[in-house]
Amino acid sequence: MKKAFIFDAYGTLFDVYSIGALLESFYPSQGAALAVSWRDKQIEYTRLVTTSNGGVHYQPFDVLTCAALQQVCAAANLNLSAPQADALMAQYQKLTAFDDALSTLTVLKSRGIATGILSNGTPEMLAAATQSAGLQGVLDHVLSVHTLNPPQYKTAPRAYGLGTAATGLAPQDVVFVSSNAWDALGAAWFGYHTVWVNRNGAPWEALGTLTHTQPKHTISQLSELLDLSF
Ligand code: LAC
Repeated sequence: MKKAFIFDAYGTLFDVYSIGALLESFYPSQGAALAVSWRDKQIEYTRLVTTSNGGVHYQPFDVLTCAALQQVCAAANLNLSAPQADALMAQYQKLTAFDDALSTLTVLKSRGIATGILSNGTPEMLAAATQSAGLQGVLDHVLSVHTLNPPQYKTAPRAYGLGTAATGLAPQDVVFVSSNAWDALGAAWFGYHTVWVNRNGAPWEALGTLTHTQPKHTISQLSELLDLSF
C-alpha cells in the first residue's frame, strides 16, 4: 500500500457543479450549463497565467474564479449584479463535499496513510471549504499552489512537487487522486501513481495513452479507493 494519498480539491472532494443550483435560481434553465462554462473558463485562466510571460500575470484562484464568472455571464448576455456575484463567490467558499469524502478520508487515516489536498485554491479557500465540509480533522496536509514562490497552477511540475515536499516521499510512493482527467495526467507526468475518479463515464485523455501516464486505477466514486491495491 502507498504511504500517502493526495487529493485534488475542486471536482474531486468538492462538487464544483453543486453551484449550478444557485446559478439556476438567478438564470432559470441555464444553471447547469453555466456551472460547466464557469469551471472551464476558470481552468482556462489558470493555464493562461501560468504559461504566459513567465507567470507575471498570476492572480489568486478566487480572483480568477470571479473573473471567469463575469466572463461567462457576459458571453451569455446575462446581467450579473454585484450581489449575485458576491452570493456565488460566497457559495464557492463552501461547496458541497461529495457524500463519501469524509468517510473515505477517515478510513484511509485509520489505516495509517497520510492524507492531503493539493489544489489550485488559495489557503483561505481551502480552509473554508474543508471546514464547511468537516474534513479538517482527516487531512494531514492542505497544500495550495498559492504558497509557491512564485506561485504556479497545476499542471506545472512545481505545483505537484508540493506533495512530495510535504510528505517527504518520492512521487512513486504517493497516490494522487483527481476527478479531473487533465489533472490526473499532469500528476502522472510528474511521477505520481494516479487514480482518476470518473463519475460520469468520460473518456480518458487522448494525450495520456502511454502506459505510464494512464491512471493506475479508474473509479466512479471516492469510496472505491478503499478496495484498491497498488
Ligand atoms: C484544484 C482544481 C484544479 O482543486 O480542481 O486544484
